[in-house]
Amino acid sequence: MILPVYLYGQPVLRKEAQTVPADYPELKQLVANMYETMYHADGIGLAAPQVGLSLQLLVIDASVMGDDFPECKDFKRTMINPVFLERSEEEVSMEEGCLSLPGVHEKVSRSVKIRIKYQDEDFQEHEEVIDGFAARVVQHECEHLAGHVFIDNISGIRRQLNKGKLNSIIKGTARCSYKAKAVGK
Ligand code: NI
Repeated sequence: MILPVYLYGQPVLRKEAQTVPADYPELKQLVANMYETMYHADGIGLAAPQVGLSLQLLVIDASVMGDDFPECKDFKRTMINPVFLERSEEEVSMEEGCLSLPGVHEKVSRSVKIRIKYQDEDFQEHEEVIDGFAARVVQHECEHLAGHVFIDNISGIRRQLNKGKLNSIIKGTARCSYKAKAVGK
């Protein structure tokens, strides 16, 4: 089932997400719905707050980026209760977008390498070192779980330049090709 994507301005995107308990009802169905929603919107990552649920859960499938970034080839992960163990001091700046901010693209600086632990949808523990663009996607999605969005990282001037777009997203008049839930609508 395709879920509506909650857009910038929705309070759920600003909350620190809750730990997912092992007995969370119908978790696998929720994960399946999140993948379907992400694919439908041509996204490569989606965090639970973006479908209105304040939960430490995210899905990523960055395999479409595999031609440009070999580390993304077959990079498909469901991460529950993720925790960063390490983030490299070395950072790289690249353009990002977000399904909750249609039409907004800005450069963001992120660690090039991370070490992270998380549970999968069967609550099996994983610990992984991830680098390159895949590490960027993981950091972007984890940021949602902390109540942040990628434009929180840009300069005041850049934010000012996006003000019109941000206001139209909040009002629900921004162009968006998928089912979405704006504050103003
Ligand atoms: Ni996002």
